[in-house]
Parts: sequence; structure tokens; C-alpha cells
Amino acid sequence: MDRNLALEFVRITEAAAIASAKWIGSGQEKAADQAAVDAMRKAFDSVRMDGTVVIGEGERDEAPMLYIGEKVGNKTDDAPAIDIALDPLEGTTICATGGVGSISVMAMAERGGFLHAPDTYMDKIAVGPAAKGCIDIDKSATENLNRISEALKKPVNEITAVILQRPRHEALIAEVRKAGARIHLIGDGDVSAAVAAAWPDSGIDVLFGIGGAPEGVISAAAMRCLGGDFQGRLKFRNEEEKERALRMGVKDLNKKYTLNELASGNVMFCATGVTDGPLLKGVKVYPGRKARTHSVVMRSQTGTIRNVETYHDFSIKPQV
Ligand code: FBP
Repeated sequence: MDRNLALEFVRITEAAAIASAKWIGSGQEKAADQAAVDAMRKAFDSVRMDGTVVIGEGERDEAPMLYIGEKVGNKTDDAPAIDIALDPLEGTTICATGGVGSISVMAMAERGGFLHAPDTYMDKIAVGPAAKGCIDIDKSATENLNRISEALKKPVNEITAVILQRPRHEALIAEVRKAGARIHLIGDGDVSAAVAAAWPDSGIDVLFGIGGAPEGVISAAAMRCLGGDFQGRLKFRNEEEKERALRMGVKDLNKKYTLNELASGNVMFCATGVTDGPLLKGVKVYPGRKARTHSVVMRSQTGTIRNVETYHDFSIKPQV
């Protein structure tokens, strides 16, 4: 993948973040999400590529835009074939309540690089580079914490696990507490949480627990770029979800997916903060139709991580 595409992709998450930021604290989750979707969809038109959305807003019959299978980009004859996993607004509730850490996020791979994950749940475990290779989602949280402790050369009681605060995680939280590790509970946003596990000095060592499967694929792309590790297993709520997964090509419903089975080949990841978070600053609006965005863009091929702070002047460059 042409490295210059990375900057093109940042423009897309910037546009989505700026659009959804207008709805920060509005209490209107759908409107915030729709604004991000509309802006992201429009911004794709300016990028020269033969893009296909493989992780998107849902299936064609339920999502009018950025649906799975939708073609995006300006497809010229020599345009590169790229698969896209996207979440125009990750943390819709966070944005609508003015909370911490909503982002606009996208990952890109060469054609066929991403698992075509159905819109169901996924059990996940993510760690940073120092603990790469030592996690196993088939083992208990306690066993994984012991292995991480060994890899990071620090006792379990100095390890911090991030977990989505959900009733389904009661037993997991109790086990992690019993093992002696610290827990950072979050209300939403497990893509940022996975990234934090591999982000230097974030204070987070591991992500445990069940979140969205599409978010799992996007997180895996980030871990490829950061040199971290990720494993996942699809979790279905009902028979219909299982049938949908089979239709999408999943052969073994109980399969353990390793990092490269979720995101393979050269991948890129970019995210722009919507509300302020620990990793990314949110959109800041200035008088005179100006704004600042903060994004991160990473490539697995080189492991380069770029922090991009952009100042926009909408009196000169109209907003998409
Ligand atoms: P949305 O942005 O779609 O609201 O997702 C937020 C999120 O917290 C994800 O980060 C996470 O993977 C998923 O929801 C968890 O799902 P649930 O809220 O159903 O437990």
C-alpha cells in the first residue's frame, strides 16, 4: 500500500470527527453517528482507490451508507484495491454524553487482509509488544495474567487490565481482582482500550473481555501496527447471528482467531479524537470557523506511528 495513502485516510477520520463533534453532549447518539457516517462517506470520494468496506455500519439492508460490501473511493484504472474496516464514531454514547475518549477510526488492508467479521460480539485479549506471544484466549484470565507478569517482569499486582463494565463481565472482573491485578473499568470504547494496552506509558497492560466483533478486527489492525498481540473468539447472542456468520464465510463458529487471522499483510490504522481521551485530544473549535483535530496514523510495514495535529480553517477550505 502506498504510504501516502496514510495521510489521505487521516483526512477521512478528521472529517468524520469534526462532523460528529457538533453533537458532543447533545444526548443524540444517532445524530452524532449519522453526522460521522455522512462526512466519512463523502470524504472517501476524494481518495484514489478501489476501496471495499468489509467492516462497516452493518449489512446493506440495514445501513444505507458505509455498509459491508460498499465500494468507496475514486476508482481510476490503476487505483489500489483496498479493504476497509471502519467505525465513523466509536463510542456514540461517549460522544452524546460528552464523555471521555470517543474517536473516529479506520483500518485499511490489501484486499483480503481482514476477517469479514459479522456484527456480533467477540471475546478479546490484547497486550503490547513486550507481552507478544504469551497470551492465549483458551486459558483463564489468571493464567494469562501470570504469563503477562512474567513477560513484563513485574508482579501481577502491578498489572492493569482494562475491561468494559458490563454485567456479562462480573465473573471476569472477580477473577482478575482475585488474581491481584488492578482493573480500569470503561463504559465504552474497546478499540481505544486495546490500543492503550500497546501504547507506551498508557498505564494499561492488557484488555480482557467481550465487545463488538467489528471493533475486534479494527483493534487487531492497530495491534499489527503497534507490534502488540491480540486474540479473539466470536460470541453469538442467538441462532440468527450464527447463521449470519456462516453466510459471511465463517466456517468454525468457535474458532480462536490469532492476530494475523484477523488482520494480515500490510495494514494501516488511523483514528481522530472526537472527545478528549487519554490517547487523543478531542476536536477543538475556535472562533472564526477554525478547528483543531488530533489523530494517530500507523503502518504495519514500517511500524511508524505519527501523531497528527491539524488546524483547519473552514473559511478557506469548506467542510465536507
Ligand atoms: P458504539 O460506538 O457502536 O456505540 O460501540 C461502543 C462499544 O463500547 C464498543 O467499543 C464495544 O466493542 C461495544 O460497544 C460493546 O458493545 P455493548 O455496548 O453492547 O456491550
